[in-house]
Amino acid sequence: MSGKSVRHIPRASLTTPSGATNVVWHRTTVTRAHREAQNGHRSAIIWFTGLSGSGKSTLAHAVEDRLHRRGCRCFVLDGDNVRHGLCSDLGFSVLDRQENIRRISEVAKLFMEAGSIVLTAFISPYHADRRRAREMVANDDFLEIYCNAQIEVCEARDVKGMYKKARAGQIAEFTGVSSPYEIPEHPDLIVETGRVELEECVSQVMKELERRGVINRAATGTAS
Ligand code: ADX
Repeated sequence: MSGKSVRHIPRASLTTPSGATNVVWHRTTVTRAHREAQNGHRSAIIWFTGLSGSGKSTLAHAVEDRLHRRGCRCFVLDGDNVRHGLCSDLGFSVLDRQENIRRISEVAKLFMEAGSIVLTAFISPYHADRRRAREMVANDDFLEIYCNAQIEVCEARDVKGMYKKARAGQIAEFTGVSSPYEIPEHPDLIVETGRVELEECVSQVMKELERRGVINRAATGTAS
């Protein structure tokens, strides 16, 4: 993991992306590489995307549980929870979803810099928003996982009763009903959460994390 530290330190700048002046980047003493070395694994952003009810949160939390039991630093950022706090001022218009995903991406990046494997579970229905999230970090820091479940399956599950309300016109701009979901064109992994058992889905994600060297197969044992 040595030699990686430079890659993650943004260029020192007198201007932030928003144009604010007199703001200077402070270089950290304890770097991401130091933290990764201490943790014994790389940090990364695992971005789950899919319809409401597709199983993103369930899968993200199950993977988190598996990682935690292996001694990895990890944390789930979950759409429903984040919308109670950080994003409680946002609704579901195109612009609000864009801002939702922008904030989450920034938070996820901070968690990653802090050495965690951060798992995000947001519908994130638009290509452009997901692309921006990916572009904020190095390519191998970001793993997009499409939780593929047909809308009929999500609607039959209707865990929160929202599809029923959306069909009845009680919730506007509901993804899959009255608002679009743009299926990822080149996800890093597709997990068939609509028809494959949770444990199998978890194993697929863990194998992918091992394959990419986020977690160490030799040091942590098998994916199961
Ligand atoms: S995102 O589109 O901006 O990524 P996010 O993942 O944060 O959405 O929130 C989705 C959750 O909010 C859903 O699981 C559902 O419980 C709830 N929700 C409430 N209204 C809507 C809506 N109009 N469209 C989608 N989800 C909604």
